[in-house]
Amino acid sequence: MRVGLQLVFWLDCNIAGLLVASGHCGLVLPRFVDSRTLAATEFTNPKTSRDKRAEHPIDPIQLTTEPIPRAETSEIDQLKRCSLEQHITFEIKAAMSTIKNVIVVGASGNLGPSILQALLVSSQFNVSVLTRAGSHSASTFPANVTVHTTDYTPESLAAAFKDKDAVVSVIAGAALGEQKKLIDAAIAAGVKRFIPSEFGSNTDNRDAQELVPVFSRKVEIKEYLESRVGDGLTWTGIVVGPVFDRSLKLGFLGFDIPSRRATIYDSGERRFTTSTLALVSSAVVGVLLHPEQTANKYVYVGSFTTTQNEILALLQSATSDEWTVERTTSTEKVDLGKENVLKRRDSAAIRPLVTAAMYHERGGSDYEKDVGLSNDLLELKQQQGLEEVIGEVVKSLSA
Ligand SMILES: NC(=O)c1ccc[n+]([C@@H]2O[C@H](COP(=O)([O-])OP(=O)(O)OC[C@H]3O[C@@H](n4cnc5c(N)ncnc54)[C@H](OP(=O)(O)O)[C@@H]3O)[C@@H](O)[C@H]2O)c1
Repeated sequence: MRVGLQLVFWLDCNIAGLLVASGHCGLVLPRFVDSRTLAATEFTNPKTSRDKRAEHPIDPIQLTTEPIPRAETSEIDQLKRCSLEQHITFEIKAAMSTIKNVIVVGASGNLGPSILQALLVSSQFNVSVLTRAGSHSASTFPANVTVHTTDYTPESLAAAFKDKDAVVSVIAGAALGEQKKLIDAAIAAGVKRFIPSEFGSNTDNRDAQELVPVFSRKVEIKEYLESRVGDGLTWTGIVVGPVFDRSLKLGFLGFDIPSRRATIYDSGERRFTTSTLALVSSAVVGVLLHPEQTANKYVYVGSFTTTQNEILALLQSATSDEWTVERTTSTEKVDLGKENVLKRRDSAAIRPLVTAAMYHERGGSDYEKDVGLSNDLLELKQQQGLEEVIGEVVKSLSA
């Protein structure tokens, strides 16, 4: 068994090395489409063969303690040079170069349909969805998408994840814990990449975690993923800030467009990064097309980094109206939100708490400045400017 594993490792190092040397790990990347071109597209479902190596995890610790049978001296030297870090890198490069079969969990929710549509429109993947048995959502999926139903038992998840390269989880906030079952099933099925249900604030930021204690539910999933990396599954968390067009429309950013009322936090000058739903959806496609560069980390994307004052000025202009402005402090609203969420167990208070934390000086919401954006890496192009998006939201609410 040990010998077998060592040989697999040796082969992995060398095959990966050859691939790198000959440039075969590079990917040819198409430009993405924006929301205006997200239209129904033909769905094909050719079966592709799977990479079985992920089913044979290797214990790199054995490498330095056991002799390697049948290997030449130079090969042994080469093998010794393969550190754990190199091993993981090679594994990722070799195993990740192609993600083809993708399954979306929670494709029927608020963000899911747009992500599903972007995956289909990219024409890069065979896309299917996972939905709960008994959910009424199945009828809303495009007719050409394969729908797997599940009761979240290992058996039903194994059937759904068979031959899948990536799982994209857009599961509801209330069901985040269910992702551990998804992760276990993904590992058992040899899935290469898991994208957890993040798609919001930077839950990796310790200050943000302290301001919004319920972020721990997402952190827990990320830690679970990290603990299982040795089992062959890689992960990417996609941080997008508030989904701009949706949040603005629903009044979540402190702007009530129909009644022309704004709640400005502190000075209104704190910068925060935010993404349109189209950009969020394209980011999922971008991550799956760049599996090596996005393995086992968070990536940060954004359409705009802006301030409340800038948005208010653009809203006043778009509505050609005077707005009533109320002022508050983020600290006060965070304290109130924490009390409501933690002491009163009021889940409706989570969203206002997340908003207040985003505008808080410790919120870490300017991803451009704090952590850097991966828009270029993922080949994301923001098609519309801030003014144009705001104009469209205002128009949609006046219709
Ligand atoms: N940044 C932002 O502004 C923003 C906005 C919205 C959401 N988000 C984030 O995006 C992610 C998805 O949120 P969402 O609002 O799109 O989710 P959602 O609409 O509430 O739910 C998504 C799907 O999850 C499945 N689901 C619901 N309850 C479930 C349960 N108890 N067990 C298993 N599955 C369940 C359902 O799919 P089936 O019925 O098909 O099983 C549902 O359609 C979350 O992480 C959320 O925090 C961010």
